[in-house]
Amino acid sequence: MSGRDHVIDEMISAKSIAARVEALAREIAREFEGSEKLVMVGLLRGSFVFIADLVRELKMNVEVDFLETSSYGNAMESSREVRILKDLRGEIEGADVLVVEDIVDTGHTLAHVLRLLEGRKPARLRTIALLDKPSRRETDVRADWTGFEIPDEFVVGYGIDYAQRNRNLPYIGKVRFTGP
Ligand code: IMP
Ligand code: MG
Repeated sequence: MSGRDHVIDEMISAKSIAARVEALAREIAREFEGSEKLVMVGLLRGSFVFIADLVRELKMNVEVDFLETSSYGNAMESSREVRILKDLRGEIEGADVLVVEDIVDTGHTLAHVLRLLEGRKPARLRTIALLDKPSRRETDVRADWTGFEIPDEFVVGYGIDYAQRNRNLPYIGKVRFTGP
């Protein structure tokens, strides 16, 4: 399925994203200064661009791992029931862990992932999300760092898709449906 006909209106420019990622990296470096093992856990697939930019701004030792949860599929509604499709490759016991998410929407995904990883006894467990839609929240999770708060709009780009399309846009755009 390729999704309904739509156009994309730019919402956050590539330049604004780059500036924000740089600032976030500085805060993360301060938080984890002196850490013996920092594992950045990217939630697939939406966070792959964000985590790639973030790690390159971090001038410190960092490991990268990935976790994939069940997603919207090609629809736009959260499933609420979160399943793990691909687990981490490495152990995180005693390590500092930073979960990297693209968007916190209802919050069910992040809540589920945090419960799972907490059980593995990391030293510190923190979260960063590029985007946050606070008006959509159905749980009480909150990322420790957020790139941008956005209104209740469906967005794409910078790793984020609509029906698997538009992940490669360098900016964040709002989807506007044009067809029936
Ligand atoms: P949550 O479990 O409802 O917080 O959903 C989080 C996931 O839903 C995000 O990681 C995205 O993959 C997806 N999602 C939420 N909002 C959007 C959007 O506006 N565009 C594309 N995917 C979204
Ligand atoms: Mg996601």
